[in-house]
Amino acid sequence: MAATRFALITGAAQGIGAAIALRLADDNIDVAVFDIKGQEEKLDGVVKAIEAKGRRGLAIVGDVSVEEDVKGAVDKVVEVFGGLDIMVANAGVAKLGTIVTATTDTWKSTMGINVDGVFYCYKYAAIQMIKQGRGGRIIGACSGAGKRPIPNLLAYSTSKFAVRGLTQAAAQELAQYNIQVNAYAPGWIMTAMVADEQRDAKFGGEPGAFLNHAIGDSGGIKGAEPEVIAELVAYMVKPQAYFMTGQSVCVNGGYFMD
Ligand SMILES: NC(=O)c1ccc[n+]([C@@H]2O[C@H](COP(=O)([O-])OP(=O)(O)OC[C@H]3O[C@@H](n4cnc5c(N)ncnc54)[C@H](O)[C@@H]3O)[C@@H](O)[C@H]2O)c1
Repeated sequence: MAATRFALITGAAQGIGAAIALRLADDNIDVAVFDIKGQEEKLDGVVKAIEAKGRRGLAIVGDVSVEEDVKGAVDKVVEVFGGLDIMVANAGVAKLGTIVTATTDTWKSTMGINVDGVFYCYKYAAIQMIKQGRGGRIIGACSGAGKRPIPNLLAYSTSKFAVRGLTQAAAQELAQYNIQVNAYAPGWIMTAMVADEQRDAKFGGEPGAFLNHAIGDSGGIKGAEPEVIAELVAYMVKPQAYFMTGQSVCVNGGYFMD
């Protein structure tokens, strides 16, 4: 049987990150889940679910936009599990605003979490994986918005274009160490980011109604479950995926094609 591998997933208290954590645990991977203060209870729930699958789980509280928190999380995973083979830089936020209405705070906080956060995750994972000398997999959360901007999500769209660029640049540099770097670029996935019952109730109650209203998407949001992304990530970290690197892969029901 192949050796157990060790993963760190950010933004993993809920949504896509939690689904990835549980899916990787099915594949003989010990998983550390990282999220912000206030999410401890949900993090503990994910750790319990990982342990119920017979794998080791570890909850780490921190903020991906704080470099020391990300570096500390990598160190903690190495200390507790004994190494790091997989990094999933999943944490992200989506704040409304156009080029005219987006505030400086919206711009800076989005870049801090969605871009700086991914940079820190890629960087400290790469340093550790190079030191270990056994390759590795680094995965980021891009978005359809990282290929085709979404109206009224200016900062978000820009940040996801940056994740795509960072993924390509890091993949090129890390190939020599047998470290593959890829990203997922989802369409609408029905997590709290897209569908929120209370928020949607004010706009007719359909899941995603608020976002539909906010971005003026006349087609209406049709989403999928987080598991469709978790399954793609499970492939990306398989040994057989060694020939795939630098890609930001669309999983969007054919909403657009590239
Ligand atoms: N849901 C979608 O339709 C969709 C589409 C494309 C891309 N994505 C991307 O997938 C990723 C996961 O999104 P989701 O839909 O699961 O959203 P979500 O809001 O359900 O989950 C995001 C998680 O990130 C955490 N987080 C936020 N800021 C953080 C920080 N500074 N440090 C650490 N953790 C932080 C949150 O607490 C939350 O648990 C995001 O990067 C998002 O942009 C989502």
